[in-house]
Amino acid sequence: MSEQRFQVTPGGSLTGRVRVPGDKSISHRSIMLGALAEGVTQITGFLEGEDSLATLAAFRAMGVRIEGPDAGRVTVHGVGLHGLRAPQEPLYLGNSGTSMRLMAGLLAGQAFTSVLTGDASLSGRPMQRVVDPLTRMGARIDATERGTAPLTIHGGRTLTGIDYDMPVASAQVKSSLLLAGLYAQGKTCVTEPAPTRDHTERMLAGMGYPVTRDGARACLEGGHSLHAIDIDVPADISSAAFFLVGASIAPDSDLVLEHVGMNPTRTGVIDILQRMGASIEAGNARDVGGEPVADLRVRAAKLQGIDIPPALVPLAIDEFPVIFVAAACASGRTVLTGAGELRVKESDRIQVMADGLQALGVQAKPTPDGMIIEGGPIRAGRVNSHGDHRIAMAFAMAALRSQGAIGIDDCANVNTSFPDFVGLAGRAGLAITRHD
Ligand code: S3P
Repeated sequence: MSEQRFQVTPGGSLTGRVRVPGDKSISHRSIMLGALAEGVTQITGFLEGEDSLATLAAFRAMGVRIEGPDAGRVTVHGVGLHGLRAPQEPLYLGNSGTSMRLMAGLLAGQAFTSVLTGDASLSGRPMQRVVDPLTRMGARIDATERGTAPLTIHGGRTLTGIDYDMPVASAQVKSSLLLAGLYAQGKTCVTEPAPTRDHTERMLAGMGYPVTRDGARACLEGGHSLHAIDIDVPADISSAAFFLVGASIAPDSDLVLEHVGMNPTRTGVIDILQRMGASIEAGNARDVGGEPVADLRVRAAKLQGIDIPPALVPLAIDEFPVIFVAAACASGRTVLTGAGELRVKESDRIQVMADGLQALGVQAKPTPDGMIIEGGPIRAGRVNSHGDHRIAMAFAMAALRSQGAIGIDDCANVNTSFPDFVGLAGRAGLAITRHD
């Protein structure tokens, strides 16, 4: 467990203009697909967080020349679909589920064997959801008996495309299979039970790789190639979400979030907060390299509890820790169902948020697939993030409305997705300090 702790003094408001760091999902994919492309991919706005840096280091370890990052600029010298080299050592992916699941697919198609490892949290997360369908494609992957990392991905296998009906709505599973599909004979199709983020499909298409979509089914065929492009990574809506909630709950707030990625498979948090009564306006809408982007103005508002429509769950899957904080500040009851996936994220986000909210005097009742929260006062207290970046940042925002200081333990993993959260949140008006 890390010794890093946040201490947040109550009150204040969020004002001004901020640009949160680059989108984590797009940053991972920019390295992976840039590496497999022919030519030089120039990335700007790259997230210099530990998760995307783990992906970058892994591709360096497989012989890809990558310059940077330098103030969000990265240059990837693509080696083509068949140019990766065997890594000398296991590839350590830290806390990053996206790196592990997407790379499992991509590596299943290589001529060489590789081993993927991660930290304690990642080593406890379910990998069978990619191992099973990849095995059906012809891959050979060893996991632990519990279906967890380390993963040994055997090389030199012949992959054949499959038509896969995903049992869970997971962009990581979908992307893993599509990346394996680049190396497979014939057609690989993935049907999703609900829409999930489509950054992989968009970036593949942007690099000239034919991908078809027919309703919930995405397909591609092996044997084409990727062509390097420039990638401008938008600000991560999942990082912006802390500020969307913070400015909504803190009286007198008026904050602009610049250049936020507005891919419709990611904007569930805006929809949910607006249903609760939030004041969020999108302006200056534009398209940046195949991804929609806008500036978001958010002002303080009175929030009401709602029943969150289950259809919005996959579109806001990473934002529930901070949505729970919004619910605690709303009048009335908020009910979340259909979100059992939250239990297998970087932490069990249902249990860990319920424990923390209860420690702050909030009536929060965890259920197997969601939470029931009664809005009410937030007391001073100390909570444990269990090394989960989004839990730490969510509780930091809760202090904007708490009756006394909030202390948050085990916060070092905020660096996985939001380096300098403390500095940026402080400039916007949050009275937060970090203690190592
Ligand atoms: C991600 C997909 C989501 C999300 C994760 C990033 C991605 O996971 O929670 O933070 O980049 O594809 P699932 O697809 O497993 O829901």
